[in-house]
Amino acid sequence: MRLLAIETSCDETAAAVVEDGRRILSSVVSTQAEVHAPYGGVVPELASRHHIENIVPVIRGAMTEAGIAFHELDAVAVTQGPGLVGSLLVGLQAAKAIAWVHGKPLVPVHHVAGHIQAPFLAHDDIPLPALALVVSGGHTSLVEVPEEGTYRLLGRTRDDAAGEAFDKVSKLLGLGYPGGPVIDRLSQGANDHAVEFKIARIKDGRADFSFSGIKTAVLYHVRREGIPPVADPAQVPPGVRDLVASFQRAVVSALVRGLVRGAEKHRPRSLLVTGGVAANTLLRRDSLGLPIFIPPLALSTDNAAMIGAAGFVGFRKGRRAGPDLNAEPSLPLS
Ligand code: KG4
Ligand code: ZN
Repeated sequence: MRLLAIETSCDETAAAVVEDGRRILSSVVSTQAEVHAPYGGVVPELASRHHIENIVPVIRGAMTEAGIAFHELDAVAVTQGPGLVGSLLVGLQAAKAIAWVHGKPLVPVHHVAGHIQAPFLAHDDIPLPALALVVSGGHTSLVEVPEEGTYRLLGRTRDDAAGEAFDKVSKLLGLGYPGGPVIDRLSQGANDHAVEFKIARIKDGRADFSFSGIKTAVLYHVRREGIPPVADPAQVPPGVRDLVASFQRAVVSALVRGLVRGAEKHRPRSLLVTGGVAANTLLRRDSLGLPIFIPPLALSTDNAAMIGAAGFVGFRKGRRAGPDLNAEPSLPLS
């Protein structure tokens, strides 16, 4: 069974053809990182405009790379939400048009379900139930996965996503966008105990996260110490490297703490870590005593292959949408 999948929830325009939810026949991702870099974060209006320009060439590229024609597809899967509404609508309209013109079923997909399905594209036989940590610029969610396609949200961020915190701290220090990779690199070999940042503990017993406090703590530290924004990215002062390393250690500890607590309570047979922040060297290094599956970078960050994988699972469960399918910026997972 071959699905064309389309993803445009944030700043990546992506299309892929996936066979039986497992085999990637093609995967094309056009990133807008450079468009948003001068602003230190995604500008929604610019994102939708670029999706409009990119969507047709990206879909064409995916079809050509897979070497198939539209009539040979079995279904079209598309991210319905959550995400930026103007961005989601571009992918959604394209998917609806292709499904309608070629008489193919349309399968709506939750973006986070896509991230959770990504490790299954890279690994066979992941033991279930699994506990998934989805960490990106837009999401920080801890999800129990009793079987493929069934998701129980255990906790999520109450304010900033973990990746968002990396991006904001990076912007604050003049280190550029996206911040995660820069901070990750600058932290290598730096003193991550230079500043002791505390991450808020959620007191009501829920497995939620919070990252806006640490961002503010970094801001206060910068003001107190009078640290100017970095002028030359090639020459970052040791004090700034120690600062970002300390920040990174605090964020990663909070994520790992959430995973460990969730694992103790729900006793999964494996752990999944996905989303852009799953690229983080420190996070990848933590061994938690359970088999841990982290997709390769191209499948961790936003892509359409993961939407195709989740779309296949949804399709088998009978998920279908009609031409009235609408974008849902805050679509709940389940
Ligand atoms: O999944 P993704 O590509 O897009 C969203 O759905 O948001 O994730 C992008 C996020 C950005 O916030 C970026 O700073 C973060 O992932 N990121 C990292 C690393 N690489 C990317 N964060 C920490 N360490 C990294 N190595
Ligand atoms: Zn994402």
